[in-house]
Amino acid sequence: MADRVYIFDTTLRDGEQAPGYSMNLEEKIRMAKTLEQLGVDIIEAGFAISSPGDFESVRAIAAAVENVTVASLARALKKDIDAAWNAVKEARRPRIHVFLATSDLHLEYKLKMTREEALDRIRENVTYARSLCDDIEFSLEDATRTDLDYMCQVVQLAIECGATTINLPDTVGYAVPSEIGNMVRYVREHVKDIDKAVISMHCHNDLGMAVANTISGIQAGARQVECTLCGIGERAGNAALEEIVMLLRTRQDALPYETGIDTKEITRSARLLSSITGVKIFPSKAIVGANAFAHESGIHQHGMMADSRTYEIMTPESVGVSQTNLVLGKHSGQHAFSRKLVELGYTVTKEEEDRLFAEFKKTCDRKKTITDKDIVALVESTEETDSRIWSLESFVVNSGNHMDSTACISLKKDGKVYKDVAIGTGPVYASLRAVEKIIRHPFSLDDYQLQAVTEHRDALGEVLVKVSDGSGTYRGRGVSTDVIEASILSTLAAVNKMLGGRGGSMASGASASSMSFENDMLMDHTDKSVD
Ligand code: KIV
Ligand code: ZN
Repeated sequence: MADRVYIFDTTLRDGEQAPGYSMNLEEKIRMAKTLEQLGVDIIEAGFAISSPGDFESVRAIAAAVENVTVASLARALKKDIDAAWNAVKEARRPRIHVFLATSDLHLEYKLKMTREEALDRIRENVTYARSLCDDIEFSLEDATRTDLDYMCQVVQLAIECGATTINLPDTVGYAVPSEIGNMVRYVREHVKDIDKAVISMHCHNDLGMAVANTISGIQAGARQVECTLCGIGERAGNAALEEIVMLLRTRQDALPYETGIDTKEITRSARLLSSITGVKIFPSKAIVGANAFAHESGIHQHGMMADSRTYEIMTPESVGVSQTNLVLGKHSGQHAFSRKLVELGYTVTKEEEDRLFAEFKKTCDRKKTITDKDIVALVESTEETDSRIWSLESFVVNSGNHMDSTACISLKKDGKVYKDVAIGTGPVYASLRAVEKIIRHPFSLDDYQLQAVTEHRDALGEVLVKVSDGSGTYRGRGVSTDVIEASILSTLAAVNKMLGGRGGSMASGASASSMSFENDMLMDHTDKSVD
C-alpha cells in the first residue's frame, strides 16, 4: 500500500485571513461540511483568540463535523491555548495548533526574544497544551529561514513536551524544493525522537513554489501537508489542495503516496468557495479552472477525438466535472430534476427541492435548455435567499442612450408590498437607488461583477455584489436571464444579510465586543502583542 499523506486544510484559517476571503459563520460551517465530504483529515477552523467571531466559528465547526479532526491555531501563550481548547474541545477529534517563530530574524526583530527564551516559551506552552489535549501540533514559524541545528533542538523539545505533529512552514515562500528536501531529511536524521511525531509541510506561494516545495517535503518524509482550496491564503497564498492531491493521484509512478480525498468532490468544493467568497476562479487555474479541461485548437481537438489521453493526463470526471451534461428543459419533471441535483452532488431537503424546482420551471419559461451550469447557479443563488427579509415583487426599468434611467420597484416584507421610484445614470444604479429608498437603510456598493453562466444568448446572468453600511461588508448573488433582475436579487441577498445581522465581514474597528480578543493578530500574523 502506498504511504498515506494526511491533508490538513487551512482554507478557513490561513485562507480566510487573506483579503477578500472572509466568511460569516454560516458560510464557514457550509465550507467545513464540504471539506469533510471532500475527505480532508484535519480542518484548521480558525484562530480562536483572534476575535469572538473566530472563536464562535471554530466552536460551531467543531460541533458540526464528525469524521475529521478540528484544529484551532494558538500562539505559544496560555491564553491562546485556553481559547483554542475551549473552541475545539467538543470536536470528536480536537487538535491545538501552537506556533512560535524560530528564525533569528523573527526572534530578534519581531519577538525580541533570545533563542533560549524561545525554548522556554515552547517548553512551557507545548507542555500546557498537551495537558489539555492529546493531539498537539507545533509549528516553527519561518522554519525555512531557521538555523538547522537550532531547529533540531526546538523539534526535539516540542516532541518531548508532547507535540504529535511538527510543522516546518515556509512562511514567506522563500525556499526552493531542494532546500525543503534537505531540511526535512536533516531533521529526520538529527532529531532523536522524530519518529514520535508526524512531519508537516506548510508552504506559501510567494515565488510560485508552494506545491513543488510541499511535494519535495513529502518525498523527504513529511506525511502531513497543509493546504487550501484554490491555494488561497496570506499574500500569494498557500499550496493548493487540488494540485497536491491530483499530482499524487496522477503521478503515482513517481509519487507513490495516497490521500483520503474523494477527488470527485474537488470541483464542487472549489466552486462553493468561489460562490461563498464571490472570488472567481481564474480560468486557467490548474484542476478547477473553467479551461482546465477545455480544448480549443483544432490539433488538440483532433487528438482528443482520436484518444483523449493525447491531451488529457487526468479525466474531468476524476475531479467531479460531469461530461454527460444531461440537458433538462421545460418538459422535464421533478424526478429528472431531483436526479440531476444528486448527480451534481447536492443533498437537499424535500422542501428545498420543491423551491428549487419552482425556480427551475420559471427559468425554463425564459430559457430553452437548462444545463448543469445553470442548475449549479440556481442552487447557489437560492441558498442566498434563505431567511429573506425583503423579496422582489416586481420591477420596471426604463433606460436609453439619451436619457437617465428610471426604475420602479416593488419589494415585499412581512406580506406587505412597498413601492418606490428612482432615477440613475444607468438601469442598475436606478434600481439599487430604488431598493435603498424602499428599505430605508443606506448602503454603498463596493463591488459588482456580472457574468454569463452559460454560452448562449439566452444565458443566465449571474451578479455578485458586495455592499456595506459602515458596520460590515455583505456579499450577495443573484441569477436570472435578466441582468437587471439578477442585480436586484443579488443586492437584496446582501441587504437581507445586512439587516438580519447574518455576520458580514466587519469593517476594521467595528466590533466593540472584540476588545478583549486580539483582533490585531490576524493582520500581521505575528506575536507582537505577546506580553
Ligand atoms: O505561514 C505560517 O507560518 C503559518 C503558521 C502559523 C503555521 O501560517
Ligand atoms: Zn501560513
